[in-house]
Amino acid sequence: MSEATGSLPLESRGKEEGRLACPLRIAIFGFGTVGSSVAKILVESHPPELELTHVFNRGVERKRVSWAPAGVVWSEDADAVLNSDVDVIVELAGGLDPAASWVRRALETGKSVVTANKKLIAYQGVELERLAAAKDGHLKYGAAVAGGIPVIPGLEQGLAGDRIARIEGILNGTCNFILSNMDEGAEYSDVLKQAQAKGYAEADPTEDVGGFDARAKLAILMRLAMRVIVDPEEIVPQPITGVTAVDFSYAHDLGCTIRQIARAERTNGEVAATVGPMLVDLKSPLAWSRGTENMVILNGRYGGDVVFSGHGAGGHPTAVAVVSDLLALAHGSRRVEIPSAPARVGGEFEVPHYIRFLVRDRPGIVAEITGALAAERINIRAIVQKSGYPADALPFVVTVEPCRSSAMERALARMRSMECLIVNPLELQMLE
Ligand SMILES: NC(=O)c1ccc[n+]([C@@H]2O[C@H](COP(=O)([O-])OP(=O)(O)OC[C@H]3O[C@@H](n4cnc5c(N)ncnc54)[C@H](OP(=O)(O)O)[C@@H]3O)[C@@H](O)[C@H]2O)c1
Repeated sequence: MSEATGSLPLESRGKEEGRLACPLRIAIFGFGTVGSSVAKILVESHPPELELTHVFNRGVERKRVSWAPAGVVWSEDADAVLNSDVDVIVELAGGLDPAASWVRRALETGKSVVTANKKLIAYQGVELERLAAAKDGHLKYGAAVAGGIPVIPGLEQGLAGDRIARIEGILNGTCNFILSNMDEGAEYSDVLKQAQAKGYAEADPTEDVGGFDARAKLAILMRLAMRVIVDPEEIVPQPITGVTAVDFSYAHDLGCTIRQIARAERTNGEVAATVGPMLVDLKSPLAWSRGTENMVILNGRYGGDVVFSGHGAGGHPTAVAVVSDLLALAHGSRRVEIPSAPARVGGEFEVPHYIRFLVRDRPGIVAEITGALAAERINIRAIVQKSGYPADALPFVVTVEPCRSSAMERALARMRSMECLIVNPLELQMLE
């Protein structure tokens, strides 16, 4: 195979040889947490179908490892590796740029690509898959959602025969680490520092705690599960930063805990999707996830609920998903074409809500709240006030019966003008 012509498409290689393709020549782009774990698995378990031939990284000399095979080319020249005779580019640098241009160029020359890059797939996945199909290559991204948990292969294969109506998931390990530790009494700022020290959270944690990472993953799942192509920017995330110890205390009294949940469903033909901290019933499997675990519950029209759970992040678990994608390619995996159509995220959830107030106590507060809710025809389910808090900073909670998100938003707008408020009320959806 010459460098000028590029590599043969995998299927051709397989057909030509009448057996599995000879070892796929693999280039890892980005030798960080996941990239080095992929290399480790390839070297240690040495699947005969896969051969690590190139590693590309900026300043690559500091990345060299003694355990890599002597023949591996370590390069900081992306063009040279893209123009080489490798069959598959494993993109593990992350971000949109320049990862997108490497992936595009690889696909344009008939190479296949495996990536764990959720941002790239959420924003450009459809277009890149079309390019892969046009050039007879493959684009696989089983590690892009929930790291080592095979949710994407599960949707592409095991659940392809169902019609998924609802997705509920814990898709961000950092937020789950923070919230499950707060559940056990830790303070947000302390547990965030701990997450940063353990390498779970970035120095700037906004992508995670702001819900942006989870919404990118949700958009990918929506395409594969609900067959809708949505703009991730249309999913408005709610940060977990407003949740405090007092919310866990009230949540426990209500038989719940709090987790960052990504959820999407079709309601009356419309697509609703959101990401944010929510009250989760203690009996729900979602409440059992601890630390950096991820969990996804897919509700199928015919098959009912299917639950995926496990390690959603970390070098080795994520690398397992990457290597599994590579093996699928080597075994002549067919391109999975799940029909999907563009859709707007315009639907609304109709769910119960939890609203926590922090006020300077005075007569008439409850009347103002009930007035704001009644104006939107929202029924109160319970008013809960625990003892032991000072009257000048009194937290209490109102839960309401299922209502549309827009009605809740209008009621909240009214309640935000109450002069007794110390902070804006915290409103959380309740998962039932
Ligand atoms: N870590 C996880 O648990 C996890 C889970 C699921 C998915 N993912 C996804 O997997 C991908 C990789 O994540 P990671 O945690 O392995 O990241 P990482 O540890 O930061 O590794 C990224 C590597 O790519 C290199 N790199 C980044 N930009 C580059 C550029 N412009 N040119 C050359 N090299 C570049 C970095 O080099 P430097 O060392 O010089 O920065 C680093 O070695 C991301 O898309 C991430 O979202 C990660």
